[in-house]
Amino acid sequence: MENDVLRQGPLFTELDDADAEALRSSMSQTKLRRGEVLFHEGDSGDKLYIVTDGKVKLGRTSSDGRENLLAILGPGQMFGELSLFDPGPRSATVTAVTDTVFLSLSHEDLLRFLDGRPTVARGLLLQLASRLRRANDVAADLVFSDVPGRVAKALLDLADRFGRTADDGVHVHHDLTQEELAQLVGASRETVNKALADFASRGWLRLEPRSVVIMDLERMRRRAR
Ligand code: CMP
Repeated sequence: MENDVLRQGPLFTELDDADAEALRSSMSQTKLRRGEVLFHEGDSGDKLYIVTDGKVKLGRTSSDGRENLLAILGPGQMFGELSLFDPGPRSATVTAVTDTVFLSLSHEDLLRFLDGRPTVARGLLLQLASRLRRANDVAADLVFSDVPGRVAKALLDLADRFGRTADDGVHVHHDLTQEELAQLVGASRETVNKALADFASRGWLRLEPRSVVIMDLERMRRRAR
């Protein structure tokens, strides 16, 4: 199970079994309870992490205390490499949204492992490039899209990664409070609640505690455009 999850991530996809085993053996396991912080923005750090079970939120806090969420990451996803490739402090605070299990690898071990393995380095570049692409999309959406459009897009992204298709729609157990959803789309909780209530009244989705059931994917996709 853990191996299947690791195999999906950028570090492991291209590895043969022997290399995968060698890399796995230099990693150690860490567990957090829901709400616990792994590290804070501004900390120094020398490890990267892969989520093997659960979910984390990556957040930043403004000088007046407001919070913005950069991303929600789940099984197979990696973080903590920016402070290696661009040496400096941690660029975000990482908090467990559910009980979460990680594997960690020291930056030093990663650099040693990358020596002579260009395909693995390419996998990491791919991940960095796709994050930059996504960050550009998020910045453009903040300027060009309205809040309901951003909410629809965020829910579809969560559905892609955490959704489970059933007869009545796609069940997305995102584990986020409405406050956290608002922080993820960069809007107030009231505006996000209004957008969600509007989608629900149109029959596009059903709201449940810390989850939604998307019943009309097509309309949600059109609203997210
Ligand atoms: P680091 O700065 O070491 O610690 C925080 C990590 O969050 C960072 O490395 C990245 O791995 C990750 N991260 C930062 N910004 C984003 C983003 N926009 N999307 C996804 N992950 C990010």
